[in-house]
Amino acid sequence: MHRLAVNSTVIRHGPLRQFSSIHIERLMHYYRSLVPAGPGGGKTFTSAQLARLLRVDDSQVRKDLALIGVRGSPRLGFDTSGAREAIRGFLGLNETRKAVVVGAGHLGSALASYDGFADYGLSLAGIFDVSPERIGLRVKGLVVQPLDQLKATIKREHAEIAMITAPAAAAQEVADLLKDSGVRAIWNFAPADLVVPGHIHVRNEHISVGYGELARHLMKKPALRPGIGAGILAEEGRMTKNSIKSLPQGQGGAIEALLEERREFAPPRSFRVQANARTTGIYRRAASSPLRFWASQAAELRWTKKWTRVLEWKPPHAKWFVGGKLNVSENCLDRHLESWRRNKAAIVWEGEPGDERVLTYSDLHREVCKFANVLKSLGIRKGDRVNIYLPMIPEVVVVMLACARIGAVHSVVFGGFSAESLRDRINDAGARLLVTADGGWRRGNVVPLKCTADEAVKECPTIEKTIVVRRIGDRAEAPFDPARDLWYHELMAEASPVCPPEPLDAEDMLFVLYTSGSTGKPKGIVHTTGGYLTHVYATTKIIFDLKDEDVFWCTADVGWVTGHSYIVYGPLADAGTVVMYEGSPDFPEKDRFWRIVEKYRVTVLYTAPTAIRTFMRWGEEFPARRDLSSLRLLGTVGEPINPEAWIWYRKHIGRERCPVVDTWWQTETGGILISPLPGIVTTKPGSATLPFPGISADIVDLEGKPADAGYLVITKPWPGMLRTILNDEERYRREYWKRYGLKYYFTGDGAKRDAEGYYWLLGRVDDVMNVSGHRISTMEVESALVDHPAVAEAAVIGRTHEIKGQAISAFVTLKESASGSEDLVAEIREHVAKKIGALARPEEVFLAAELPKTRSGKIMRRLLRDIAEGRLLGDVTTLADPVAVARLKAMYEGKEG
Ligand code: WTA
Repeated sequence: MHRLAVNSTVIRHGPLRQFSSIHIERLMHYYRSLVPAGPGGGKTFTSAQLARLLRVDDSQVRKDLALIGVRGSPRLGFDTSGAREAIRGFLGLNETRKAVVVGAGHLGSALASYDGFADYGLSLAGIFDVSPERIGLRVKGLVVQPLDQLKATIKREHAEIAMITAPAAAAQEVADLLKDSGVRAIWNFAPADLVVPGHIHVRNEHISVGYGELARHLMKKPALRPGIGAGILAEEGRMTKNSIKSLPQGQGGAIEALLEERREFAPPRSFRVQANARTTGIYRRAASSPLRFWASQAAELRWTKKWTRVLEWKPPHAKWFVGGKLNVSENCLDRHLESWRRNKAAIVWEGEPGDERVLTYSDLHREVCKFANVLKSLGIRKGDRVNIYLPMIPEVVVVMLACARIGAVHSVVFGGFSAESLRDRINDAGARLLVTADGGWRRGNVVPLKCTADEAVKECPTIEKTIVVRRIGDRAEAPFDPARDLWYHELMAEASPVCPPEPLDAEDMLFVLYTSGSTGKPKGIVHTTGGYLTHVYATTKIIFDLKDEDVFWCTADVGWVTGHSYIVYGPLADAGTVVMYEGSPDFPEKDRFWRIVEKYRVTVLYTAPTAIRTFMRWGEEFPARRDLSSLRLLGTVGEPINPEAWIWYRKHIGRERCPVVDTWWQTETGGILISPLPGIVTTKPGSATLPFPGISADIVDLEGKPADAGYLVITKPWPGMLRTILNDEERYRREYWKRYGLKYYFTGDGAKRDAEGYYWLLGRVDDVMNVSGHRISTMEVESALVDHPAVAEAAVIGRTHEIKGQAISAFVTLKESASGSEDLVAEIREHVAKKIGALARPEEVFLAAELPKTRSGKIMRRLLRDIAEGRLLGDVTTLADPVAVARLKAMYEGKEG
């Protein structure tokens, strides 16, 4: 028997559900923590008993319970009338007022059918719609009238409140119509994704509120505790799925679809009770003093010298933990050796062919010390740059941590990048040493890393030595130049395992990692020691809920920031056990990931939406045949996740048990900035939910004014933030700190925020594409294209792609000497792969007579995107030569057919 019949269904599925359910959740958790619900647990409390327990007023408890939808006044002994009184008072409904409903769609009809209005002092005077097929329908005894009757009805009935259930633009029209109608208040009830709340502007005495805004407003009332403002009208539970189903014919389907999209998942109780963060206090504490919050996280690390100041902020430059000294490798290794964890598995590695290695913390420590001594023996010192171009083998972690141990700066380049990309990155960083391997395994083939590295190093004057890990052996047939190349295993055989960690300044550079920006040249993102480690340590612990017993598997490649932060630094600082896998997810079969989960009993899995969509396409039979019962938490990163993929992930991988955390962040942010906390926050598929405690984000318009849809900005410095772009301070200022002066960090991402304050990321707003979660700039690909001898001009766009998120479409015009052919197209695609790496190979190359340009000569990318995505052409009047577009379009359609 449930002691507290918390009626969350009503709130979730009622049309008013956007009314701040995060706060409902908070209250629910609060009460549930006092009164264990569920079969056999706890005792029955009355509100008076609860009030005594909480040392608050009985009426407060009753109000709360009403608001969170606890039902059954007489049945459970709760009287909720006090709550209604309070709300009525606030809304000024102390005498009966009349209201009209505008919009007779599913929302409007549900609203009009709600018979709880009377309790709040509202009676319904009419219901209106624009759509001819709805006019004349009967809803709750009222006939739906055309909009032109609206004003007359309001006058006749003396209606004072209008409830709009239309999307933003239409709502604005209605609001304009209502200007001198005598209506006192307009409430907009449209769901958050149809309307931008607060965007209705009505002059003079009219009050205009979105429902979410009303909630926020209510919450500001000091008499009401956090969470209040929720549920008001839904509280009684009359607005249920069933009442929606009984709506006018033909609308049921749409409503069902709406309900589908609006699914929400509260943290399962079993997860919540054991979570590292289980009460909302963490948000409150961090918000009241972010610096204190971060300092408390930093204090859990080992410092050789404590900082004197948490933050020094001279925009756009932040210094965190000023004056502090520490060593990252000491935090990731040495301190764990002092307990039983010395023999705990740090890395559980599996190679693609099926070979295995387990390194305990003490093993890893030994290897790292040895390699640090190797670095020293080669004259590498603090501040020197070491380039790493390795496959996913444990050595990559050893080399990174060895650099960190002596204060050398590593720059890891993803093994899929081409020789030219590697060369440019080595040269930009001025690396003295390159660490690579004879090859790596990928889908049963050898990736010839050493050959690529040799080609790159030919034009890298700063490289003195190349160290080669023997991963493949003779089969690799890797060239070896005894004058420059050294075998890793030979150096390690000689090296001493004793190497004390170098105490480093909190602001000493830890690594540089290259990522794409909106110009052709990749930028070296600089991360430092103390702040970065604090950030990844805290987020791993709190978001991934990492425990000693966990087996954590982040499937990213260590060549991306995700691998840096959540394979290496975060989990190892947290003394976690990480799984590392070398190869492809479909080798030898499409269930490789699930075999790995089963075999090593992985508990926390962190992967990318593009991978999830691939698994979806392969079919659920692959995960179904493996035992995934060890999993307890799932995460995603890299691009917006579509709700379908989210739901599939939860169902077929998490088996509906595991919370899903959609984590938003960037190479520049160092660690996660927006994500649910899995024991606290109710998730909505497709939303990264809320900023991490201690992080201040906002959404602003072009002018920097807060908006519910616009550009995502970070409004306060955070410990893991990039410090600059290597060798390009000016670009650092230009790309991140120019658009909004020095006030906000500009992320380059678009986002919207719903009425509950949840963030929904919408993708990049600059010329950066996101292909399978990898950032690639359009200009980078364009310059690779025009580098081909046959290409005259090129334009590149990211078009929507079912699996990859975005795919690269290239439009090129040829030089007069060249003639188009399929072979040439193939050659051009390969040329890009060779210049940048296979990840940048265009999905398709369209040969065009001309590129569509505006009269001022700008390429019309939007038009190209429409063409590539097969949409209608839209407005082409600004085109200098529309014929080119017609040809392009015809060509695209030809390809489709
Ligand atoms: C995108 C990867 C939506 C975003 C850690 C960002 C996301 C870029 C998410 C950074 C997410 C990353 N939802 N979009 N959960 N995570 N992105 O530097 O556009 O490789 O700006 O860092 O990926 O990519 P980066």
